[in-house]
Amino acid sequence: MYIPENKISEIINTSDIVDVISESVILKKSGQNYMGLCPFHSEKTPSFSVSPQKQIFHCFGCGVGGNVFSFLMKYNSITFPESVKILARKYNITIEVGNISPEKKKILDLKEGLFRLNKKVMEYFVNLLSQGDQGQIARQYFIKRGTTDKIIKEFNLGFVPDKWDSLVEFYRKLSIPKNVAEKSGLVLPKKSGSGYYDRFRNRIIFPIFDINMQVAGFGGRVMDDSLPKYLNSPETLIYNKSRILYGLHASKNYCRQKEHVYIVEGYFDFLSLYQHGVRNVVASLGTALTQEHVRLLKGYAKKVILVFDSDDAGINAAKRSIDIFINEGIELKILVLPQDKDPDSFIMEYGKETFKQKALQALSIMQFLTVTAIKSHGNSIQGRVAVLDEMKLYLSKIQDSALRSLHIKELAEKLNVDEKAVLEKVRNEHLSSMERKPFLINADESTIDGINEIHESVRREKQMIAMMLQYPEIHKEIKERKVLDFFYSESLKKIGRKALSFDCDKDQFLSQFMANVQTNEEMEVIASLVITDVSDVKEVYDKSVFLMKRIINLRKKKDNTLTKKIKNAEKNCDSDVFELLAKKQNEIRQLHNEN
Ligand code: CTP
Ligand code: MN
Repeated sequence: MYIPENKISEIINTSDIVDVISESVILKKSGQNYMGLCPFHSEKTPSFSVSPQKQIFHCFGCGVGGNVFSFLMKYNSITFPESVKILARKYNITIEVGNISPEKKKILDLKEGLFRLNKKVMEYFVNLLSQGDQGQIARQYFIKRGTTDKIIKEFNLGFVPDKWDSLVEFYRKLSIPKNVAEKSGLVLPKKSGSGYYDRFRNRIIFPIFDINMQVAGFGGRVMDDSLPKYLNSPETLIYNKSRILYGLHASKNYCRQKEHVYIVEGYFDFLSLYQHGVRNVVASLGTALTQEHVRLLKGYAKKVILVFDSDDAGINAAKRSIDIFINEGIELKILVLPQDKDPDSFIMEYGKETFKQKALQALSIMQFLTVTAIKSHGNSIQGRVAVLDEMKLYLSKIQDSALRSLHIKELAEKLNVDEKAVLEKVRNEHLSSMERKPFLINADESTIDGINEIHESVRREKQMIAMMLQYPEIHKEIKERKVLDFFYSESLKKIGRKALSFDCDKDQFLSQFMANVQTNEEMEVIASLVITDVSDVKEVYDKSVFLMKRIINLRKKKDNTLTKKIKNAEKNCDSDVFELLAKKQNEIRQLHNEN
């Protein structure tokens, strides 16, 4: 083990899963538990449940679950030791590094080295901005753009002069190893000969922070009209642009407060809104919004207002991201600014209040699609038919019939056509899309007899394990009766055996047991079993004994009849029945493996 057991226990005892998950998911108290929208799958109604008593989470929708470590691992796509480190840091627990596989240790060290290096580089760039004649050009540039010193300071903006080796020199002074230097993406090997040169030259610099406040990468802008206008860090071990939103580290609490967030494209768009007090904002940095971005945001706001430039590129980018928001069940509004204005230039010119007024006019998805369709096809007769043909695709996808008919009415009025004609187009589209869909089979309706009985048994076994995990008091009884031997499900049996052999104080049993679970699948099964309360302590004993008896008796009975039938078939050389039974046994075996 990489981290000493006692440290893991200490973290488990100190940390609070509700506290940790709340940082990335909006949770509302509901009975004993907390509920929220699952960050791991698309959903509109909350099925993600967190139990403060048991210190576990479980999603009734997609089945993910586990303890505080598994949450952090899944959410941040990190390893177990990394999740331990995050928690140790959060709760001020110091950990000494123990043994770890050499490859893993190498990557971890490298990542940590890169974060440390980036922080130093950031400080170096910040310094270059504030000092000397060279920094003067950049300071002038920020003044020209209206960026205040407060913002420059808060976002650690910096500058790098017009030289090929500022960072190369800086790295040399710090004796940064070659592999770390290269992996940072900030210096590049020279094409001819040996040595390196700087990626960023003569640019103002924007450090890009991740949600844990670590510097993941950088962006740099020229101070004149030369090209490329912006340069960014390449993808590295610690910088993944489809997962990072610029500014979220600073704006997340404002997003929570306001319950909505503005998404803008550029660094200056973000900084100017933030500077003017519109702090619930993030920037996508010109890249297409990904599902990961949207899921990340979902933890901080229920509603998104996309603010894109009104040029074609902006409109197309907005259109492309619509499906992502619909799938993630996030309310989306689109704010189209007047021609030739971006959020930065708009708020710099008109101020916060006018921006907010404008934001109230943000369009719903349907309105936006209609407006852009009319804009591109025009208002002639052919144009309006083309608009209808484009819009019927979207309209036919709206599930809610009341909402659909409202939109149809609105569109008919806007295009000045008969509502019935629109309705018919939408209906035809809906029908033909149904025909395109493959025929769905209801997988639940299995008619092979015996299968349902096994389902029932496995359900009882699950209940048994759920009781065992929550009430170690019954372990003794289970051992004595050898209940686990009668289980159909091998995986449940395995969990049960582990639980029986796990020696621990009963108050801490569940959390300590979960900390020792090795595989993710097992973690999820366990979380799903223990998220719902089985009973209270007094009741559970009687109930469990009853359940034990049932599991044992039913299994004995079933096995008896099966064996009897098989024996008979063998005796009579009844090959048909024999085959059938063998088949059935096989099915049953497969079912065990699934459960
Ligand atoms: N961008 C980029 N690389 C480029 C151009 C743009 O990474 N060559 C990203 C930057 O994050 C930039 C954003 O896309 O902030 C939006 O680009 P653009 O609209 O062209 O620039 P502005 O943000 O308006 O830049 P400025 O106001 O500084 O001119
Ligand atoms: Mn701009």
